[in-house]
Amino acid sequence: MKALAMNNPKKFGRVAVMMGGSSAEREVSLKSGAAVYEALKCKGVDAIAIDVTGSPIEALAGLKIDRVFNIIHGRGGEDGVLQGVLEVLGIPYTGSGVMASALTMDKLRTKLCWQGFGLVTPKWCLLEDEADLDDCIEKLGFPVIVKPAQEGSSIGMSKAGNRDELQKALIVAEKYRCDVYAEAWVTGKEYTVAVLDGDDCMDAGGKVMHRAITEALPVIRLETPNAFYDYEAKYQATTTQYHCPCGLSPEQEQSLKELAVTACKVVGVKGWGRVDVFIDDLGQYQLIEVNTVPGMTDHSLVPMAARQAGIDFNELVWRILETSCG
Ligand SMILES: Nc1ncnc2c1ncn2[C@@H]1O[C@H](COP(=O)(O)OP(=O)(O)OP(=O)(O)O)[C@@H](O)[C@H]1O
Ligand SMILES: [Mg+2]
Repeated sequence: MKALAMNNPKKFGRVAVMMGGSSAEREVSLKSGAAVYEALKCKGVDAIAIDVTGSPIEALAGLKIDRVFNIIHGRGGEDGVLQGVLEVLGIPYTGSGVMASALTMDKLRTKLCWQGFGLVTPKWCLLEDEADLDDCIEKLGFPVIVKPAQEGSSIGMSKAGNRDELQKALIVAEKYRCDVYAEAWVTGKEYTVAVLDGDDCMDAGGKVMHRAITEALPVIRLETPNAFYDYEAKYQATTTQYHCPCGLSPEQEQSLKELAVTACKVVGVKGWGRVDVFIDDLGQYQLIEVNTVPGMTDHSLVPMAARQAGIDFNELVWRILETSCG
């Protein structure tokens, strides 16, 4: 059969945009999904929207689809579970595979990998119960930020400046039924770096298996009057400022981009993603986390960085879809 032209939307076949899911980030995912679906339609792609409310297997049952654009944030979509289902069904999908999705969904274990590779991430302390509080105070001092290891959108996170606040922060984070840890508070500037596709990785027969991330988009600096970039600052506030260009020198921005690419490679992230990182007051880079299914509403961070690079939203969605190999 004659190969389809690179820019022919038919080359993707029928694309299911899987969105929603049942994590705490469901509402954000529905917005991202609607924007992605519209973009694919604009590009002439044969797309269908699927709101996954229960089992993804049931959601796909009886549908004839050729690939999946996965835009389910959080557990069930970003954690390797959906990726495993799609692997078994033999359906190509966007973004990272099972291993990297599962690993990076857990921010604490991601930090362990980065540390093992010699990349710097803030000090942390696992909080299994109240008996760990004193240990934590001794190890990290104050302030700290307490996080459920497997949530996104700043859900369940609080800053704690004393023992009482630490105790309360633990109670809040524990509700999310995953490991909880405290992290040393970083004073400095906050950045986020989007990464997008790269070189094809072929199998012996020349079939594209996956793409290695090699390209970082322009860096964004985030600024909020809130204590940190919390849920309100992310989705509701009008006071959050996004600086892109980020204000770093070209050399510094380049080194931050290289760090983000390395941070992705260390944990096996593929296709696309977004790395959150601080530069602390001493000039030290401090890796915070990597998202493998970042927000894709038209005011989300990856589209913002892409725009700065001259890639409009529809084109970005196309490029992410191209990372679904098979
Ligand atoms: N160690 C830290 N010191 C200071 N602020 C922090 C630290 N870690 C996180 N934050 C703040 O909390 C926000 C959310 O943290 P983090 O990125 O770990 O959570 P998330 O919920 O996974 O975010 P996302 O929505 O990007 O998935 C950060 O954007 C930053 O503003
Ligand atoms: Mg984050």
